[in-house]
This record gives sequence, structure tokens and C-alpha cells, in this order.
Amino acid sequence: MSRQLKLGAFLMATGHHVAAWRHPQVPANAGLDFAHYKRLAQIAEAAKFDTLFVADSVAAPTQDIASRMARSDHFEPLTLLSALSAVTERIGLIATATTSYNEPYHVARKFASLDHLSGGRAGWNLVTSDNAAEALNFGRDEHIGHAERYSRAREFHQVVTGLWDSWEDDAFVRDKASGAYYDPSKLHVLDHVGEHFRVKGPLNVARSPQGQPVIVQAGSSETGRELAAQTAEVVFTAQTSLSGAQAFYADLKGRLAKYGRSADSLKIMPGVFVVVGQTEAEAQEKCETFQQLVEPEVGVALLGRMLGNFDLSKYPLDGPLPELPLTDSGQQSRQKLLTELAGRENLTLAELGRRIAGGRGHYSLVGTPAQIADRLQEWFEQGAADGFNVLVPHLPGGLEDFANGVVAELQRRGLFRTEYEGRTLRENLGLARPQNRFV
Ligand SMILES: Cc1cc2nc3c(=O)[nH]c(=O)nc-3n(C[C@H](O)[C@H](O)[C@H](O)COP(=O)(O)O)c2cc1C
Repeated sequence: MSRQLKLGAFLMATGHHVAAWRHPQVPANAGLDFAHYKRLAQIAEAAKFDTLFVADSVAAPTQDIASRMARSDHFEPLTLLSALSAVTERIGLIATATTSYNEPYHVARKFASLDHLSGGRAGWNLVTSDNAAEALNFGRDEHIGHAERYSRAREFHQVVTGLWDSWEDDAFVRDKASGAYYDPSKLHVLDHVGEHFRVKGPLNVARSPQGQPVIVQAGSSETGRELAAQTAEVVFTAQTSLSGAQAFYADLKGRLAKYGRSADSLKIMPGVFVVVGQTEAEAQEKCETFQQLVEPEVGVALLGRMLGNFDLSKYPLDGPLPELPLTDSGQQSRQKLLTELAGRENLTLAELGRRIAGGRGHYSLVGTPAQIADRLQEWFEQGAADGFNVLVPHLPGGLEDFANGVVAELQRRGLFRTEYEGRTLRENLGLARPQNRFV
């Protein structure tokens, strides 16, 4: 069968557009409405999406402008996806969990549990936290710096995956006749002692259906790419142009060989923000409806956060983006992308805030299903992507539009599945089941 693209449904309460919650067709209380999420999961699964994807931050914004944004109340991703595992059967479940404000044992245990609960559909989006405010909830005055975060992340990953191999696949014999619950020769105690962690093990969860949940990484700086090359099986990234995405794709795939990995063992899935209409004019009009709802101060607050936790409220809205130091707390790759965008198009602060109000800097497409499919096909066939993590302005409407229009078009072109190939997330993504390192 010819190569087909992978799709993730990036769920976010009322939708990705910062003003979506104010739209008449959007349930403003969606962030904590399980029925809403259940519907999203079922729409995505009916459309054969590979995964649901849930981002996270372990802090709520506190600046005054936060009271005008729907960003302060939402479900914790692992809890949400555990509940969704019970109302879905085939779709993958990727939750974000930070390596900066967690302990590896907790993370290993929860994701192994989700993998068991879901019959092998769990994925861990390993992030290092791009929100400086998180530090204040974990006994620190300041966020951990960029280099230190990645150093901790690397070791965190080693410990988590080591714990996932605590038990061989057939360790639990549970033989009532002999009284042997498990075979002690198939137990492996990790005994990890490192720079950041000391973890004895073993994990108190049997090896999970996928062997190990799928490792997803979202970070695209130099350090982020190196960690991805070493550890990730899926990479979520923000790219704005075909040429930029091609360069990122070639760079990251090119780093795999030195870790003994094949190009196929890592799937690169840029984010794409999509507004779909029956006609191009209708799509533009839909997009404009959301844009009209953005207060300039809200757009600029979002911009400041995405540039790496800067307060831009003291700068004139109609002035240029001020010179900012390299962020040490946020995403360096996103800061670069947004700064380049502002310079290239000579945008004022308010214009840039408005520009990213929907897709936060991700590649954005507004058009008919065929127009959108053309661009996705181009990126997929020209070495820029193995698939896409799809962001829609509002939920559930935007996801329905994408499923009914764009997915159907991709299927007609033979670029996307019409039935799941496998039972587990690994099987559907075409990723091998990892060997237990102790065997
Ligand atoms: C596309 C993308 C999505 C991300 N999503 C999250 C997230 O949901 N939660 C989070 O704490 N960090 C997120 N991050 C940031 C990561 O934590 C990253 O490890 C770190 O902040 C630095 O990113 P960088 O390597 O681009 O500098 C994301 C990064 C990218 C590029």
C-alpha cells in the first residue's frame, strides 16, 4: 500500500481560536464538559484520526487580561484521556506531561495504566514546560532554564522507559495451581542513579500492551531536536512555510542515524490550523467571524506568552514588536518563528496578535476541502511532513468541518485510511513495538 499521512486531532476546550468561546455556536463551558469531549473523540474516531492530542500547562494565567480569555479552566489531560478511553476503541490517546514538574515514577505509572486501560492506545507528549508560571506551583521562585530543562528531560525519559521495562511481557503467570503470581526471573529492577533522579523500581504496573506507550516530543530548538532524534517517535512542531518545514524535516530525520535509528521510526507532524468552507469565500468569512471577536489586548497577551512569557502590555498596540531577549523559559523555536513573521510582513503588535489568534503561529489554511487537501498533500509528498496535528478554530464545529470535508477529500485521493490498520496506536502509526531492554 502506498504511504498515507497521519492525522492528530488537537483538542482544546472551546477550540484553538483565542476568541472561540465567544462564538454563538460554541459551548463556552466546554473546558470541563465531558459530554463535549466525548463528542469530539467520537467525531475524530469516526473520521479515523490516528490520535487525540491534548496539550497542557500546570498553571493558570493570573494577569488581568486572563479574565477575558478561556484559558483558565480545563481538564487535566491524563484524567480526560482515561475517561475517553472508555468511550472509544481505536483512536490513539496522547497526553502532555512535563518532565520539569513531575517525577518519572508518577509519569511511567500513569501512562502505563492508560496503555492498559485503552488496550494499547497511549502516547506521552514529553514537554519541558514553556510556561514560566508553573515554577511557582512547585516550590520554586523561577522556572528552570532551557538547557537545564532539557538535561532533566533526557534523564527523565531514560527513567520512564526503564521503568516501563520493569517486567517482561509474560512475567505475570498468575498460576493458581502452583501459587506463582509472577516469575521472578522476569522482573528487572531499574536501580537508576543519575544527575537528577534516583529511582529504584520496579514499576507497579505490568509491561503494557504496546510494550511502551508512544513517545511524542514537542520542542524544536537545537536542543529540542537533538532530544527528539534520540527519544521521540512522533514530533509535533510549528512550521510556517513549505521550505522551512522541509528543512526541519530533513534536519531531524538526518539526526536519527547516529542513534542507530531508521528514518521511519520517527513521524514528523507539524501543526496545521484549518478553517474549512464550502467555498473559499465562505471559509474566509468564517475565519473573519472569529477574528472580529479578538480584542487587541487579548491577542497581544497570547502573543507575549507564545514569544516566551513576555508582558507586552506596556508597548503601543500600533507599534512594532519590540526587541526581546532570547527566551529561557519558553519555546525558543516559536519565538524565532513569530519574530521572523513580524519582520517579514512588517506587522504591528496588534496585527501580529491578531494574526496568531487562531493558530498561535502554526501553518494556517483557510479554504475549501480541496484547497486544504492540496496543501497537505504538497507538504506530505515533498518531504515536509509525515502527517499533521490538526487545530481547528472552534469545537465541535471546526472538527466536523474538517472530518466531513478534508478527511473525505484525503480519502478520495488515497492519502488517508478509510479503516484503522491495527488495534494499537503503534500499529496505526506504523511504529515497531519496542523490545524490553533487559531481555
Ligand atoms: C509545537 C509545540 C507544542 C508544545 N506544546 C507544549 C505543551 O503543551 N506544554 C508545554 O509545557 N510545553 C509545550 N511545548 C514546549 C516544550 O515544553 C519545549 O520542550 C520547550 O518549552 C522548549 O521548546 P523549544 O525546544 O522549541 O525551545 C511545545 C513546543 C512546541 C514546539
